[in-house]
Amino acid sequence: MTKTRTDCLNLDANDRLAPLRAHFMTESVDAQSLIYLDGNSLGLLPRATPARVQEVVQGEWGRDLIRSWNENGWMTLSQRIGDKIAPLLGVGPGEVLVADSTSVNLYKVLSAALALTKADAPRRRLVVADRTDFPSDLYIADSLCRERGFELVLADDQEILSRLDDRVAVLQLTQVNYRTGRRHRMSEITRAAHRAGALVVWDLSHSAGAFPVKLKGEGAAEDVADFAVGCGYKYLNGGPGAPAFVWANPAHTQRMDREHTGQPLSGWLGHEAPFEFEPDYRPGTSMSRFLCGTPPILSLAALECGVDVFQAALALGGLNALCEKSIALTGLFIDLVESRCAGQGLTLVTPRRSDERGSQVCFSHESGAFAIMKAVIERNVIGDFRAPNILRFGFAPLYTRFVDVWDAVDRLETVLRTSEWRDARFSLREAVT
Ligand SMILES: Cc1ncc(COP(=O)(O)O)c(C=O)c1O
Repeated sequence: MTKTRTDCLNLDANDRLAPLRAHFMTESVDAQSLIYLDGNSLGLLPRATPARVQEVVQGEWGRDLIRSWNENGWMTLSQRIGDKIAPLLGVGPGEVLVADSTSVNLYKVLSAALALTKADAPRRRLVVADRTDFPSDLYIADSLCRERGFELVLADDQEILSRLDDRVAVLQLTQVNYRTGRRHRMSEITRAAHRAGALVVWDLSHSAGAFPVKLKGEGAAEDVADFAVGCGYKYLNGGPGAPAFVWANPAHTQRMDREHTGQPLSGWLGHEAPFEFEPDYRPGTSMSRFLCGTPPILSLAALECGVDVFQAALALGGLNALCEKSIALTGLFIDLVESRCAGQGLTLVTPRRSDERGSQVCFSHESGAFAIMKAVIERNVIGDFRAPNILRFGFAPLYTRFVDVWDAVDRLETVLRTSEWRDARFSLREAVT
């Protein structure tokens, strides 16, 4: 039976993760009666962030100045935050770094993967990617393939596995598709790629912080992925433009150590001894070879506050509890939209099966998706539009309440029932949708 608003309030009252919302600055959100369903694009502001950033600006920068690189741990901040992200990805300390953007990190790890394959299996010349993945990933793969003499093969998501053969060097895949919310089974795909002799590079931008990621599978060697990257500003709540994370299978970094290989963005901080200021580049060991230039300390300080909220989440039930809540929120949204907005032209795009979707739900609308989303936003429900016809709603389990889901559907239903979205003002496009 369709849930009532009271049912949803009861779900919130019994939600053991409900206290986590207090770790975010929700006062102004609540004051505007805003329902924020876009944490998969830009997470909410953590309560600790403003004071921490102010302390780094005034104390560490203003007072301690350049001494902070040593005395306030600036030099090792990328690694420290990486170690805090590692449990979210199912990997160990020292295996994750935070630096640059997801696109830049993808360039680094895909280059490394291509170099490893070129050495081991020079006849493998193909990189397979999902044609519907985030365009930046496809652009990076395309330009690298051209530069290195590989060919990029764009496949439909259903045919990925059938494209894996002895010509494939690397499979590059985003675990949760940004537009449809479809979630790939990581271990199964990694295993299939390895059996075909290919390496796997995962983009975890829409995974990390929404559900437990298992880059190492359940322990079998062939299930352990090769490289991964992901955003810091989505479910990790690091703030606009927050630095991204990068992971490499330790077997690869150990081999790169033995062979003294790096990645092509050979900036000074990825050097083995940056302060020797040597004229020749020597890649640093382990993950440090994936650093490039000076880290953005203010952005890292903000990201650390976002990542620290997960310590509280781990104490309250862990990543599985977060995942269960995400499934419950997205399932509730699907049920409510399908029952209350039936006949209004919305079609579910996200998989119905809970183990096949990420923490977002998307509906398509043939002619009005953009205008409907604009009208919904005017009613203070923030989701986003993804071309050509997708209404996308994200459900960050750290702070989204069940009653938010109910209220959001209530407002969406009003927008559709009254046809208010047809008003001309909802068709004007801005730079960011
Ligand atoms: C799946 C995915 N990959 C990559 C990116 C690009 O990230 P960045 O702008 O940090 O390079 C995004 C941005 O939204 C994304 O959703």
